[in-house]
Amino acid sequence: MIALSLAVFVTIILSGLLTGCGLSPEEKARIQREAEERGRQLYLTNGCAVCHGKEGRGDGLNAARYYPPPTNFYDPANYRQGPSRGAMMRTIKNGVPREGTAMAGFDHLTDIELRDLAIYLESLQAAGQQSPNKENAP
Ligand code: HEC
Repeated sequence: MIALSLAVFVTIILSGLLTGCGLSPEEKARIQREAEERGRQLYLTNGCAVCHGKEGRGDGLNAARYYPPPTNFYDPANYRQGPSRGAMMRTIKNGVPREGTAMAGFDHLTDIELRDLAIYLESLQAAGQQSPNKENAP
């Protein structure tokens, strides 16, 4: 009996996971777009563009002042701390406090804001993967 209820339970959880908890592909795409847009707004309102550039190409107004230069977000290989969502969230929260690095921590942001920012940067990584070119080098 216990084994049976366990099997039923596992089946329910698995089918939930497989169907993405009942969301249609359109809904998932909409949620994704909304998260990217929130991330883009956070990117602009928190001044990331001053260093990383309006479109994240590492070419902001102040970029030339810094060495190492602000990361160009289009190529995952440019992320020294790692291009995964978790790594980016940590980097944005804690900064890169190695000596000489201008990347300060943004630890006032909530986990959701950090996640939305990382999702926005993922969309830039994806765009860079689709049309790799020399401009995306660090
Ligand atoms: C004062 C300039 C400056 C501002 C403002 C700034 N950054 Fe950075 N950022 C840098 C520099 C310089 C680096 C490169 C550090 C390195 O290469 O180690 C960097 C690196 C990064 C990295 C990649 C770290 C790695 O190598 O893995 C991420 C992600 C990042 N910044 C996100 C952001 C976000 C998001 C914001 C806004 C919330 C922001 N940065 C604001 C200067 C800045």
